[in-house]
Amino acid sequence: MAINDAFLSELKMRTDIMDLVSSYVSLDSRRQGRTHKGLCPFHNEKTPSFMVYEDTQSFYCFGCGAGGDAITFTMKIENLDYIEAVKLLAERAGMQLPQDGYDDSLHQKKNRILAANREAARFFYSCLLDEKNSHALKYFLNRGLTPQTIKHFGLGYAPDSWDSLIKHMRSKGFSVNELYEADLVKKSTKNGERFYDNFRNRMMTPIIDIRGNVIGFGGRVLDDSKPKYVNTADTLVYKKSHEVFAMNYAKNSKEDFFIVAEGYMDVIALHQAGFTNAVACLGTALTQEQARLMKRYTDEVVLSYDSDEAGQKATKRAMQIFSDSGIKVRVLQLRGGKDPDEIIKKHGKERFKSLLDGAENDIEFNLIKIGEKYDISVSDGKMSFLKEAAAFLAELSSPIERETYCLKLASMTEVPADAIRQEMKRHLGAVRKKAKKELFNHARNISNGTEDKINPDKKLYPKQAKAEEIILTSLFRNPDFYRKLKDDLTPDLFFTSFNKRVLAVLLDLLENGRDLEMYSFREKFSPDEIGRITYLSDIFNEISDTLEECRECIEMLKKAKDKKSVNEVSAMSDEDFANMFKNIKK
Ligand code: GTP
Ligand code: MN
Repeated sequence: MAINDAFLSELKMRTDIMDLVSSYVSLDSRRQGRTHKGLCPFHNEKTPSFMVYEDTQSFYCFGCGAGGDAITFTMKIENLDYIEAVKLLAERAGMQLPQDGYDDSLHQKKNRILAANREAARFFYSCLLDEKNSHALKYFLNRGLTPQTIKHFGLGYAPDSWDSLIKHMRSKGFSVNELYEADLVKKSTKNGERFYDNFRNRMMTPIIDIRGNVIGFGGRVLDDSKPKYVNTADTLVYKKSHEVFAMNYAKNSKEDFFIVAEGYMDVIALHQAGFTNAVACLGTALTQEQARLMKRYTDEVVLSYDSDEAGQKATKRAMQIFSDSGIKVRVLQLRGGKDPDEIIKKHGKERFKSLLDGAENDIEFNLIKIGEKYDISVSDGKMSFLKEAAAFLAELSSPIERETYCLKLASMTEVPADAIRQEMKRHLGAVRKKAKKELFNHARNISNGTEDKINPDKKLYPKQAKAEEIILTSLFRNPDFYRKLKDDLTPDLFFTSFNKRVLAVLLDLLENGRDLEMYSFREKFSPDEIGRITYLSDIFNEISDTLEECRECIEMLKKAKDKKSVNEVSAMSDEDFANMFKNIKK
């Protein structure tokens, strides 16, 4: 069931897409005035192809095809389902969501998981303070954690038992299935189904999202046994590749950059030492989604990964992802300890602060790393170094930086700056040519359907799909065409399944005199598909917008249908053909 229309129209009236989007994306107003352009928050790009249209209250990205209205935008950017997005927008607009009239079973399920997590966190915390478990508290204190830090992060202890959490949670009214959905318990199917606590004898760190929900846990052993961590697997409320640990605190820190560390323990130690802008990724390598989440709050990070080989490798990867997301990166070279936690413990927070102040920016870091690959004292080595360094500098987006480092490079290698500039120019030419070709291929593939994920049938029926799209767009823009075309228009006329589905909903809405609002499509289409529908309704421009053109398209499809059925008939075996004939006679 859908949320009632009246509520949604009111919500739409009170939500301005410009306002909404600008709180996530900085938009440039183009000369035309009511169309705004910015860097797409849904994929990485360096030149803006993300558009917001005030007139239609919609958005569309020409790079990745994301599109839709305020609700779609909220769903995608906040990673919410439909009801949650409506709820968030309603809160923003100061409206109360109607109590009935929508199906919120998924939403309720998520709420139960969140409630279970919260209760489990309380339980783990109380176990930590229980005298029975004094060895756990001792471990915490030995690691230098203060009682305030333990409380601040809600750290706890999962007892060494197969069912103490299950028992506690049952007494609080949670079913074992709910615990299973929260990944707080595991299921064994040996000798019948049996559930047991997922976290046993572990130090528990709750993972809290930016809205303050406990969405999962990291559980560390108290000694050197393996595996070191057991973490919550992905659940309905937790997608580890999308979340950033301690973001709930770091986003409020006064610093305008984040410190990104590898481990939970590093982040906790950093916060305790006053670096409240520290965050970590959750048991995975940094993802684009995590970088984008950080980008909402800052334009700069300082990477502070472990000094071992794995940490250095992860640093390189993370630098690439951050700079692709338009975030400035500095790299802190850990000296005097394997990770931030150890450095603070051994040498104090002042040492970490001085390392932080001396963190090299990513350009210096990269030039140093490139330099390490070659022997610059011989001319061959010097040439190769200059080539690679120039290629690297050429791709920097700021002309000031390009020039600054070009001059540095020149004085360092005693090669004229002009020669380096020439090399940069040559490299850029080659890169541009390649990018242009790729873009051209991509556009061609989308338009002739060879690469269309939303409507894969387009590949089989490119001409028909085009005609279908013209009809759909015409109807979106001229709902009054419907009366004149309806006798000839049925979804069966269409060849491609996606367009067929759109037409079916469209016809239904038109028949019932409803508005062609994007929310009417939402129940039956995914957010990506909504992007395409937005494209067809607002952006697709290759139509002449006349009834005649629609009629021509309908005729074309009819003819193609006839031809197709003739072909199908001729592909029948003699026997089938005879049978069909018999049936018709009957
Ligand atoms: P300390 O050893 O106490 O310094 O803990 P740490 O949290 O700093 O962990 P470490 O530096 O070893 O690892 C960094 C991060 O990788 C951890 O915080 C976890 O998120 C993740 N991680 C480490 N070991 C494991 C493991 O065995 N399993 C999983 N799933 N994740 C792990
Ligand atoms: Mn560590």
